[in-house]
Amino acid sequence: MKIMPKDWPRDCRYVKAGNACRELGIVRVRLTGRRQSGLLAGMKRSEINRYIEEAKVFFDQHQFRLPPFGYWTTRQWKSLGHEVDEIRSRHLGWDLTDFGSGDFLKQGLLLFTIRNGKLDDPQNKKMYAEKIMVVRERQITPWHFHHLKTEDIINRGAGRLVCELYNSDPHGGYAQTPIKVSCDGVVREVAPGGKVVLGQGESITLVPGLYHTFYGEKGAGTALIGEVSSVNDDASDNRFYTPLPRFPAIEEDEAPAHLLCNEYPDGR
Ligand SMILES: [Fe+2]
Repeated sequence: MKIMPKDWPRDCRYVKAGNACRELGIVRVRLTGRRQSGLLAGMKRSEINRYIEEAKVFFDQHQFRLPPFGYWTTRQWKSLGHEVDEIRSRHLGWDLTDFGSGDFLKQGLLLFTIRNGKLDDPQNKKMYAEKIMVVRERQITPWHFHHLKTEDIINRGAGRLVCELYNSDPHGGYAQTPIKVSCDGVVREVAPGGKVVLGQGESITLVPGLYHTFYGEKGAGTALIGEVSSVNDDASDNRFYTPLPRFPAIEEDEAPAHLLCNEYPDGR
């Protein structure tokens, strides 16, 4: 299997049986994240399409409605101009990652960013962000903290979310100090590496420098998780304990039903 060179024409981005590029005898793979020499890890576009379809059904089941851009197709995106630059520049919309694990169900997250500001935009008046997420049982979002962002993680009404916590030390390690954390306005003290489990309607406030990992509790079903936060900037504000790619490598084995938030074409 060969990796598609950067300079391939845009109409050769997707693997489609019978198209002209197939004559070159190459399985074309576009990597939007990490490149690995030899072995390809990452996600297939067909998996991403399937998980997004499942998420749309899940949100509907719980009466959580997405904004219109949640349903825009790849074809629709090609005709859109600068009137939707806010969606492009703030990376709103679908966001699905395996954090480079190659096993989305074991270590991965599906998010939909509903609103966001932009710190480096002098015109920005929006100092907040909101996301909705699907977290499956035992599906891990790995240990990380944020340099600037404060986020409330909220169980919006399905499953149970297990959050594990450490304070960070000055060197970016785990501090062996107890954590004081606010859960729905009530201060709780948690031992280093300890857990807070969010039942339906419950939330936790994660402040900058507080390491956290989370996953859906086994046996409780898939969790519907919201995030309300200060501005989100995945390019500079995430500190993973073990360095990880934030966005997946993608094997284009079929056309995308919906573009991810880092894949929108420029405005016409
Ligand atoms: Fe976080």
